[in-house]
Amino acid sequence: MNLSKKIMVVDDALSILTFLKNVLTDAGYDVITIADGEQALARLKNFKPDLILLDIIMPGMDGYEVCRKIRQNPADNHIKIIMLSSESKLEERLRGYKVGADDYIGKPFEEHELLAKVRVFLRLKRVEDELVNLNDKLNQQVQIRTQQLSDAEKMATVGRLTAGIVHNLNNPLQAMMSISQILALRHPNISQIKDLRKACDRMYEIIATILNTGKRESELASVDVDLNEVLRDIVELKQADHFFKYSIHTKMELQPLPIFRGVYAHFSQSLGNLIDNATDAMYYQNKGVLTIQSSVTDRLIRIKISDTGTGIDTDKIVMIFDPFFTTKPLTADDNRPTGTGLGLASCKEMIESYKGNIQVDSKTGKGTTFIVELPIFRTGQSVLIEGVSSVLL
Ligand SMILES: Nc1ncnc2c1ncn2[C@@H]1O[C@H](COP(=O)(O)OP(=O)(O)OP(=O)(O)O)[C@@H](O)[C@H]1O
Ligand SMILES: [Mg+2]
Repeated sequence: MNLSKKIMVVDDALSILTFLKNVLTDAGYDVITIADGEQALARLKNFKPDLILLDIIMPGMDGYEVCRKIRQNPADNHIKIIMLSSESKLEERLRGYKVGADDYIGKPFEEHELLAKVRVFLRLKRVEDELVNLNDKLNQQVQIRTQQLSDAEKMATVGRLTAGIVHNLNNPLQAMMSISQILALRHPNISQIKDLRKACDRMYEIIATILNTGKRESELASVDVDLNEVLRDIVELKQADHFFKYSIHTKMELQPLPIFRGVYAHFSQSLGNLIDNATDAMYYQNKGVLTIQSSVTDRLIRIKISDTGTGIDTDKIVMIFDPFFTTKPLTADDNRPTGTGLGLASCKEMIESYKGNIQVDSKTGKGTTFIVELPIFRTGQSVLIEGVSSVLL
């Protein structure tokens, strides 16, 4: 750290240089002595003095000229300059101030006065240096902040535009998906129609991913959730598929539920997966029935999702909540259900994060029921389900 104690003494008289060097060094300053103006300017850059004691009358370049040259360079503007002269004429002092000197000391020096002045100007220099430093730091912070704000604004704009464009693509895509589905049923032998449908599915996945990614942060905020509405939204979204792909009849038996705070996406994705699993289990049946029920006690909300599908073998039922356990292929050339085996694992994690639980009841060849229970905490009039927002989905 610069403690502002470097002093350059410039005088052509060796006796003065020696005297000042001794006095100032004894007082604890870091001193260099220089015998002429040109030299003084040349050493400025390396030594970086905080204060210069500068003789006026010198052979070659005089003190005024040296002072004027120093002040021409903005980087050296903060160096304190005290002029030294044997004559103490007012005119001479004024000329010194005019070329940029800070003060003046007459020869012969009074040692205490000299040291007092040096102390005052070095203190001033220290305060000025601190202000300059502080200012630099503030400027840097302002620049960084401004850059961050403009980056964030750009990203937000790009995000909004992308979400808007992608969202607008969704409607025509839904129409293409339904039409290609109808065409596929009418003309099962035309393979291009199947390809068209697959391309639509792929596009739908991409759009869903982009919209989810864009929404992720805001979607992870807790909001008032009506689970019946979540269930209705899921069924509405999948209705076309249920009818065309699976020939499933859906029964909804929903009792009014209390509103509670939670992350909407947690429930839409978890319950969505249970409904997907149920429909997948009825894929090979002609007339499957999907039953969705909701009910409430004074302690908990209960949601049941039942299917009349394949059921789950006893040896497999212990594994269904394990991550990556699946009996479905990862991809398929036909419409067969595919899977990654992550659905139930993330569903369980989510429900448990709300202090809830998930149970399964299944009979091979008859069907399966998943029961989700979420505890409610009554605080006065309002009902809350508490949970965390960092759940693997
Ligand atoms: N309702 C159900 N009827 C029959 N089997 C089921 C049912 N629900 C789940 N399973 C079985 O449990 C397995 C794991 O289900 P999970 O939802 O975790 O994964 P997935 O459906 O195979 O793939 P993903 O959900 O990741 O797309 C399924 O592959 C299936 O064998
Ligand atoms: Mg699944």
